[in-house]
Amino acid sequence: MKAARVLVTGVAGFIGSHLAERLLRDGHRVVGIDCLTDYYAREIKQRNLLALQPDDRFCLLERDLLDLDLVALLNGQPAGPRDEPYARDEGMGQDDPFDYVFHLAGQPGVRGSWGNSFDQYTRNNIQVTQRILEAAKTSPIKKLVFASSSSIYGNAALFPTPESAIPQPISPYGVTKLAAEHLALLYRHNYGVPVVCLRFFTVYGPRQRPDMAFHRFIEAMLQDAEIQVYGDGEQTRDFTFVGDIVQGTLQAAFSPVVGRVFNLGGGSQVSVNQVIRTLEGITGRRARVRYSTEQKGDALHTGADISRAAAGLSFKPSTALEQGLKLQMADQLNRQS
Ligand code: NAD
Ligand code: UGA
Repeated sequence: MKAARVLVTGVAGFIGSHLAERLLRDGHRVVGIDCLTDYYAREIKQRNLLALQPDDRFCLLERDLLDLDLVALLNGQPAGPRDEPYARDEGMGQDDPFDYVFHLAGQPGVRGSWGNSFDQYTRNNIQVTQRILEAAKTSPIKKLVFASSSSIYGNAALFPTPESAIPQPISPYGVTKLAAEHLALLYRHNYGVPVVCLRFFTVYGPRQRPDMAFHRFIEAMLQDAEIQVYGDGEQTRDFTFVGDIVQGTLQAAFSPVVGRVFNLGGGSQVSVNQVIRTLEGITGRRARVRYSTEQKGDALHTGADISRAAAGLSFKPSTALEQGLKLQMADQLNRQS
């Protein structure tokens, strides 16, 4: 495929950094935006960018999306007074509009979305998405891919859960992701913005966010510390390896499909206790587990029916849990050294 000009929002994050690396490997030119929010340590996000920055087809705009002139940006113009390096970068073809936008920036985390932090969720998940959609109305982009979430389902009535299930989020985070998804589809129907919404199911692998279960479990096991499990550990997730998410996201962008929602899941439901047993097998160590109360906002089970993504996007997750866990553990060990 011809090299494209691509915008990745949330490029310093867990999934965004993997996606941008893959886009560069495939020969595309990438502008990444991220303001490195303090949800987790900035140093981790800076490290996520390390493999991208030496590539002269990559350009980082370290800016808050709400502070940018997004109409100008999507049309290839400088998006603010501080964007001179970007505007001067000839390799970026300043006047070229973007072909594809991958909108991954957002405020993630299910359990932390209650209370005062909700402001961050409405701001970074709803307002930011609405601004991007407004800008996309007047830009010639071929596709806008939005990173939605399995948390829009809440405690679904049917497993595996198809996209046609009635969304009933049970966390404030899920409410904001569903609102953003609805906005995306509104802009498709009213203004023809070529959106696709992807419902990612609990993503793991190298660089996983430090607030997420596998990251915390591996860290605890490596330090012989206690793993804290919320509830009895029998809750299940359709854990999805980050490489499979990246592959599905690219297939969604480069396929002719628009105006649709797709589940991207790993293909199997696994309990938190099973994950811990797998980690014991990998490390040869016994986990010390402390069970505590269930957390408000956590769904008991998630499971993706991926038949729509298989048929429409040729999506086929290929990384088994043990293999993916080994890769994540190697990455965490590497970061410690
Ligand atoms: P992440 O926190 O690692 O990455 C998100 C990035 O967005 C961060 O680096 C943050 O600094 C940036 N950002 C947030 N608000 C911004 C703003 N206003 N302007 C500029 N940058 C901003 O999270 P992640 O796990 O990589 O998730 C990426 C996306 O996928 C999120 O939208 C998340 O809701 C969604 N998602 C993630 C998972 C998962 O399991 N990780 C599952 C479902 C959906
Ligand atoms: C993850 C992401 O954090 C969300 O941003 C994303 O939107 C969501 O997936 C999704 O799929 O939509 P979550 O499923 O809660 O959310 O992912 P983890 O933090 O990895 O938790 C997985 C399970 O482990 C949950 O049942 C959680 O309660 C449990 N857990 C987590 C523990 O028992 N202990 C911990 O220390 C952390």
